[in-house]
Amino acid sequence: MKISKSEFAQRRKRLMAGMAPESVAIIPAAREVTRSRDTEYPFRQNSDFLYLTGFEEPDAVLVLVPGRRQGQVIMFCRDRDPELELWNGYRQGPEGVVKNFGMNDAYPESDVDDIIPGLIEGRSTIYYSMGHDDQFDRRVLSWVNQIRAKVRNGAKPPGDISDLAFLLHEHRLIKSDAELKIMQKASDISADAHCRAMKESRAGRFEYHLESAICHTFSENGARHPAYNSIVGSGKNACVLHYTENNARMEDGDLVLIDAGCEYQGYAADITRTFPVNGKFSEPQRALYDLVLKSQLAAIASVKPGKKWNTPHDVTVRVITQGLVELGLLKGDVKTLIGEGAYRDFYMHRAGHWLGLDVHDVGEYRIDGKWRPLEPGMVLTIEPGIYVAADNKKVAQKWRGIGIRIEDDVVVTESGCEVLTHRVPKTADAIEALMAAA
Ligand code: GLY
Ligand code: MN
Ligand code: MN
Repeated sequence: MKISKSEFAQRRKRLMAGMAPESVAIIPAAREVTRSRDTEYPFRQNSDFLYLTGFEEPDAVLVLVPGRRQGQVIMFCRDRDPELELWNGYRQGPEGVVKNFGMNDAYPESDVDDIIPGLIEGRSTIYYSMGHDDQFDRRVLSWVNQIRAKVRNGAKPPGDISDLAFLLHEHRLIKSDAELKIMQKASDISADAHCRAMKESRAGRFEYHLESAICHTFSENGARHPAYNSIVGSGKNACVLHYTENNARMEDGDLVLIDAGCEYQGYAADITRTFPVNGKFSEPQRALYDLVLKSQLAAIASVKPGKKWNTPHDVTVRVITQGLVELGLLKGDVKTLIGEGAYRDFYMHRAGHWLGLDVHDVGEYRIDGKWRPLEPGMVLTIEPGIYVAADNKKVAQKWRGIGIRIEDDVVVTESGCEVLTHRVPKTADAIEALMAAA
């Protein structure tokens, strides 16, 4: 399961078709980042670069020059080097990226400073995403300055540096069939990992035991990396939204919240489930759990083309506020409480985000100041939660320290939406049944 060479070519063609006349786009690959002394973090390609090339090496630059007769798609990449390859792994080299990645032309990375100014000269606009890589930003400006220094000889510097993101990220926002197949696979692997964690949960085990079950399931299914740092928070740790210590002992009677998803072929899944460490919800846990689930199901039911991005969020706010009043955690008129944002003591984040090559994927949420309408092919998460701080003296003791989030990934279809992450159970009964059978 891979994106085809022709789909990558199609993406580049589409991007070039939307670029201004006489323009050029420069997209650098990610760099390797030191983790400690001479070892690096696992390499992760820049998502824009990956989207346009499928090429997974660092130290590369893609340059698109629409209309250039000798070839519009040019890659600079690491040269072949038998000795370095022996130590550090295989490289495609310029010949490889032409042959295997559909580039029209390719040069060694060491030629970038000699060749790119010539490709820019005479072009009116450079598309480049400034502000993500200081070192590369300075290089781009130095190429422009080299041309400026030669204006008296007739050189024409570009008038404009324009953010590539505006064009490219709109394309990335709508997923193709091939992308959706990969995202389904990422979701299936991640769902299996969550099921396994549920089955392996016992009082007295540690949060990292469940994290390791999750990571093992990812990697044994060909998804070697999580799409983000896994969160395994038991008891009141579930109320820390980005808790990643994952080192506490899981206690009998507590819930555990797991937010984890793998990256498969570059694409992220993002799932949260919350379940009882010992397999059985207590009465207050279940009351709050059922409320979060009710809001999540209502939000999913609201996802369809034409509905605004913000609709599912608004739905979760209404259901959660109403439910918190019914359970006695909030007091007052539901409409007024929503207007005042009273729910934010318990539900302080938004209901979701775009999902794709990045877990918090690219794409605007508003257009001309208004929430944008949903369209088929968009993928988003729906992830409401309720978190009752352990020291919240305004609510009865029985609610304190309970943190619950339920998160699924959905794709907008012609008639509504499909839940990509349906394979992991989420009603309290289904979770208890799965855990009892383990
Ligand atoms: N795991 C990050 C998020 O849910 O947004
Ligand atoms: Mn999420
Ligand atoms: Mn998540």
